[in-house]
Amino acid sequence: MIFRLIRKQDLEYIFQWLEPNDYLRSGVLERYVSEGKAYTVEIDGKPVAVGIIHVVGEEGAWLMGARVMKEHRGHGVGSHLTQGLIEEASRSGLRWVALLTSVDNKPVHRICEKLSLQKRALISWMHMDKDKIYRLGEGGVYISVPSTDRKAMDHIKRSIGNSNLMIPDSDNMWVWRPPSGEAIERMILASERLCLARDGGFGVIALIRFRRDRGTLQALVLETQKTMGSVNDIAGCIAYESVQDRFGEIELVVVEGPGQEQSVWESIYQLAREKPWRAYVFYKEL
Ligand SMILES: CC(C)(COP(=O)(O)OP(=O)(O)OC[C@H]1O[C@@H](n2cnc3c(N)ncnc32)[C@H](O)[C@@H]1OP(=O)(O)O)[C@@H](O)C(=O)NCCC(=O)NCCS
Repeated sequence: MIFRLIRKQDLEYIFQWLEPNDYLRSGVLERYVSEGKAYTVEIDGKPVAVGIIHVVGEEGAWLMGARVMKEHRGHGVGSHLTQGLIEEASRSGLRWVALLTSVDNKPVHRICEKLSLQKRALISWMHMDKDKIYRLGEGGVYISVPSTDRKAMDHIKRSIGNSNLMIPDSDNMWVWRPPSGEAIERMILASERLCLARDGGFGVIALIRFRRDRGTLQALVLETQKTMGSVNDIAGCIAYESVQDRFGEIELVVVEGPGQEQSVWESIYQLAREKPWRAYVFYKEL
């Protein structure tokens, strides 16, 4: 097995075995290949895997797009690929690697375990109807301010900084990174409003973005401390914001620390339109 960069002439073969609806086909793989950031594992002269390093802030390697050709799965190719990507990141002087994978993707969990990446956040994506979240949040007590509010910003920086959670890189929910003061600030400024829940010293924070192009309100909820009361408070705040701007649909992204068997968000999952998509962020310092 040879770990190496993907060359332009490999693409024809790779596109033969990638799934027809794979998002890597829509120009994504070509872009990373031309930047020299897409890798493969070669077996008998053929590229049978794909793995991409997306550099975050010149300091981290976000590993994405891992694929192994069906016929070659279960024989260590995915492990070899991931190990190669981590070594490559380390050689380039990057300080951490991280990846996002569904809570059901057991092969990836196993690969991460073998390569000492640890679960650092549990993320749940769901779509909610405004009236459902409104009912849940009735009576909630919260603070809602514009994202430029300096006092709220400083408070959030402290709570997220101490929480050890992962945060999205600016407003890209497909790339997550450990929080730094600057990264938290960028993420907050990419939103329009901030909600803080009352109890536990403002343990739950929601960042609200109005996706007018999509007609949805997107709420990113960071659980910096676990308290049930805070969940209702935040639900109330999101409902209030959606009523103000008349958004019927809410895209809710909840970020929690991993490890708790029972999530305080269970009550919300039952109200979502479809089963929430849940994923772990795995992380390792180099
Ligand atoms: C995920 C993927 C890249 C793994 O590639 P692979 O070549 O099969 O991986 P490996 O053979 O190196 O390792 C898989 C490990 O998971 C284990 N595994 C496989 N299925 C498992 C299951 N259902 N439960 C628990 N462990 C499982 C294997 O035993 C192996 O562990 P081991 O080395 O201790 O025996 C490949 O399955 C794939 O392309 N999947 C579709 C795309 C995808 O999900 N990509 C990841 C996006 S984050």
